[in-house]
Amino acid sequence: MQFPPIELGEFDHYTLIVENAREVADFHINVLGFRPANIQLVNAGSAPPGEYDMLNHILWLPGSDEKVMVVTEGLTENSIFYRYWWTYGPGVHHVAYTVDNIDETLEKLREHGVETTSEEILQDPISGLKQIFLAREHCGYFVELIERNDKISAGEFVEDNMSALANTMQGYLDEGDLIEDGNPSILIHESKENVLKVLIDPFRLPEWTCHKIIAMKGERLVESRMHGDLDLKIETESDAVNFTWSIGEEKRSFKITIVESEEGVIVSVDLSKVQVNERAKLHKIISIELAILAALVEGEIERIPESDIQIINEWHLEIHQKKGL
Ligand SMILES: [Fe+2]
Repeated sequence: MQFPPIELGEFDHYTLIVENAREVADFHINVLGFRPANIQLVNAGSAPPGEYDMLNHILWLPGSDEKVMVVTEGLTENSIFYRYWWTYGPGVHHVAYTVDNIDETLEKLREHGVETTSEEILQDPISGLKQIFLAREHCGYFVELIERNDKISAGEFVEDNMSALANTMQGYLDEGDLIEDGNPSILIHESKENVLKVLIDPFRLPEWTCHKIIAMKGERLVESRMHGDLDLKIETESDAVNFTWSIGEEKRSFKITIVESEEGVIVSVDLSKVQVNERAKLHKIISIELAILAALVEGEIERIPESDIQIINEWHLEIHQKKGL
């Protein structure tokens, strides 16, 4: 049966989740001409009583006294907003639309097969504000339905609802669901010694990775990129090699484990600390790099298809031009 589209009310607000709310708010105020409306500290559940785990910068949209953008930052590592940012990266978290009767609208949405992040509509007992999130799977972000009343005007939010809404996102942060590919790994039919010979030699990295311009500058081992040199450190443990790239305070490490098996050596790269939004891409690149490494060690480099070499070269150009890590 075909149901007609529902009728939403006006757009109400949208929310970004970012690493640093003040910086993002300042950009919108100083460059894009948004006006500050409010700054709110909230305890959405992960902080001890009297402390906060969520910071909101609420800004009026240009030309409006009613519509706001909320810039949210999780203040503790356990905060759902911090974990959300860490998992999905910065960006739009949800867009909210007013509705006159949230129960009726939801009923119609259910007829369309729409899922929500909570069974129940969340209602603040004092103001009567009602909110619910439609599941992210429908369109890649959450759509919020919000029913305001004369006690809770545009641009205002209540703490209890915010923490209740936050907790409905828990299911999106269970890592088990998000790690689709696990860690890239490969079996190399050679001795551990022969694998390590190639793996830990920085000057052979250009042969099997997208890190192409490796050099010694004085005492420093560096990878040269368009915007400057990155320091590179290669540290060997008994069953692992750690590659660490750093620039100033910023650091990025990859741990490569080497496990001996009957047929040779299994080499795998730990991606568990990589943000989910980067993981799929890195998984693909690193899988190719490991395949090239295996082919090099086994002396059969010609088995690597030209198209894979091209992917690595394109990725090299991308990171070569990137600022930072
Ligand atoms: Fe919202």
